[in-house]
Amino acid sequence: MSQSRLKIEVARAALSEVDSGMVLGVGTGSTVNAFLDELAGSDIQLKGAVSSSRATTEKLAETGIEVMDLNHVGELELYIDGADEVDEHRRLIKGGGGALTREKIIASASRRFVCIVDESKCVKVLGDFALPVEVVPMARAFVGRKLVGLGGRPELRDGFETDNGNLILDVRNLDLLDPLKIESEINQIPGVVTCGLFARRPADRVLIAGEAGIRRLG
Ligand code: 5RP
Repeated sequence: MSQSRLKIEVARAALSEVDSGMVLGVGTGSTVNAFLDELAGSDIQLKGAVSSSRATTEKLAETGIEVMDLNHVGELELYIDGADEVDEHRRLIKGGGGALTREKIIASASRRFVCIVDESKCVKVLGDFALPVEVVPMARAFVGRKLVGLGGRPELRDGFETDNGNLILDVRNLDLLDPLKIESEINQIPGVVTCGLFARRPADRVLIAGEAGIRRLG
């Protein structure tokens, strides 16, 4: 099965997590877009959605789902999003699409976070995927030096500005064996908005589409 087919399969499986009347937190990326296509074809009627990016806001508008402001809806029941890497403890690397900060905010503001991936995203130890770090522009070089001090090899994502007007450093070579510790260390650097490690707020459930069907973690 192709990766795009697996994304559709896991998107379809995620529908069973969603109830009509919910205000749903919605992540960013091609798996989430597949999920929104499946949702549009289902009989589930959301009350609305909180979006993690401009791209998702556009997709929600196309799908006819009302986009709501997180400030006006309080705690969300459910957040659905993809990931770039997932380990067996449901810890994630996210931010390949650059939406990590809003994604982390909505994940943290949600009672349940269901992550949807195809099996290519599953790893034993996080870190093959370069870790995205969102940085305030004036702190780019300073944060870069601090990341080198942590053993990383940061690279500026070329020509990219986040929805928050910031930059992304993609960091290779970090030791992520203790993702909770490194997530805190990176987030403590002045100028870092957040990093793409989701270890302090892992997914509550991961749905993984593979050749053998859907596997669940959590
Ligand atoms: C965006 C993300 C995405 O969830 C991640 O990049 C996975 O994307 P896709 O579903 O297209 O593979 O973190 O910031």
